Amino acid sequence: MPTLDPATRQALAARLRFYRDLGLTEFYRRPVDLQANDEPGAPSTNNLGAPGPGSPRSGLGSRGGDLASETWDSTSPSLPHHQEPTIPPRKPIFTPTDVPAAVLTADRVAALRIIREEIGDCTRCALHKGRNKIVFADGSPDARLMFIGEGPGADEDAQGLPFVGKAGQLLNNMIAAMGLKREEVYIANVVKCRPPGNRTPEPEEANTCLPFLFRQIDVVRPEVIVALGATASTYLLGQRQPLAALRGRVHSVRGSKLIVTYHPAFLLRDPRQKKEAWTDLQIAMRELGLEVPARS
Ligand code: URA
Repeated sequence: MPTLDPATRQALAARLRFYRDLGLTEFYRRPVDLQANDEPGAPSTNNLGAPGPGSPRSGLGSRGGDLASETWDSTSPSLPHHQEPTIPPRKPIFTPTDVPAAVLTADRVAALRIIREEIGDCTRCALHKGRNKIVFADGSPDARLMFIGEGPGADEDAQGLPFVGKAGQLLNNMIAAMGLKREEVYIANVVKCRPPGNRTPEPEEANTCLPFLFRQIDVVRPEVIVALGATASTYLLGQRQPLAALRGRVHSVRGSKLIVTYHPAFLLRDPRQKKEAWTDLQIAMRELGLEVPARS
């Protein structure tokens, strides 16, 4: 057994703790390849290593967006002072602390399955009473880009998938406008059960569900997260601020860059804001190294 230097030992111990927390105990019985380098920022050198932020992941980069599409016309004039509502300051927001070591690409599917199994037939908060299906997520576990919404609506509750209703169609068009496919990104919500009447999740409901979302983020490790609307941005950033104060900047959450934009449901109600949302998506594209189309 070779002697490990303190830094390697520390990194290895942190990763083992994370795998244990995920329930991947079989990991301990396999030989550990100390050459595998999957830490953030370090490109993978073998086919087990996960690419870190900044490294290309499969499939992204080809443009397929149609900016002139009927449902995603980002050229409408914007309303400068219009904002989405903020979350009322009632309860503290769940804020997790340390970010665990990256999960190897080959283990992401299993790691996400473990999180889903842990959620089980959840009754942790009152939202379970009215739900039909738990909406875990959709998309690629290797995504470089993740979208996070508020919570399932009626269509999502019926199908068990996020953003499959009208707002989902608009989100699909937003993704296409970025030159990406829906299957290439990862999509999740702050809460996994539909709030009655599509109301905003109560802080207790959001805080109960949030640890699972943070674990999903930790597994996928997207380079960029786009928070869709005030609920997602409030709970991801752990601070209640008007959307206007958060947009136009690159924030950081759990090692990923975070861009804040309007919720697609809000854009359906006020299509004039699509232009503003498109400027937000362009920030995300630049951070991902995607080609931003010149203004027509
Ligand atoms: N709105 C959301 O916030 N999430 C969905 O999945 C659908 C609509």
